[in-house]
Amino acid sequence: MTKMPARAGAGAAPLSIRGVMLWKRFLDRPGQEALRDAIRGVVAAAPLFSPETRWGRKMSVRMTSAGRFGWYSDRRGYRYVDKHPAGTDWPPIPPEALSIWDAVSGVDRQPECCLVNFYTGTAKMGLHQDKDEADFDMPVVSVSLGDDALFRVGTEERGGTTESLWLASGDVLVLGGAARLLHHGVDRVKPGTSTLLKDGGRINLTMRVVT
Ligand code: SIN
Ligand code: MN
Repeated sequence: MTKMPARAGAGAAPLSIRGVMLWKRFLDRPGQEALRDAIRGVVAAAPLFSPETRWGRKMSVRMTSAGRFGWYSDRRGYRYVDKHPAGTDWPPIPPEALSIWDAVSGVDRQPECCLVNFYTGTAKMGLHQDKDEADFDMPVVSVSLGDDALFRVGTEERGGTTESLWLASGDVLVLGGAARLLHHGVDRVKPGTSTLLKDGGRINLTMRVVT
């Protein structure tokens, strides 16, 4: 008899929500800890900051990036930039994140940006599409760490119907194919639902091919 793997991993069948593929608990606890520690290194090299929306409001989520490009926003709009606001290069995407991309993305290009979103307190993210990238045939791979988050998925059009699901630590989502441009966002994070982050909160990584 074969031994059950310690993590669900890419071997287990994902769920599909409107074509968004969801692997529950893709990472087991040691996998989550290794990725968390790698992200600590990213944040040490490229400190978190709160971007402004194009309407001049500070976002409630703090962010940084790894990879050739980082995602940035201010009154001039949303875009990818090749330097952290401090003027330094973004650190490399950690191998612990790249191996998740390799397992679930289904494409042979590598991500050029790993956006790190950090949610504390009442931080949330409004419904939006990821469309600052050049090639929508390339998926977006999202990894959740820390407290549970209520994730909302809509339609390609603005104002369409939505449905919500809870994302837990270690869950991996892929927005690809027909689901690549679906609106999505985070309504809230539920404090105290994970012990992964010492001071609580949630980290979300989204890996993207930019060019
Ligand atoms: C994002 O769309 O950039 C983040 C989604 C999430 O935090 O789960
Ligand atoms: Mn997004």
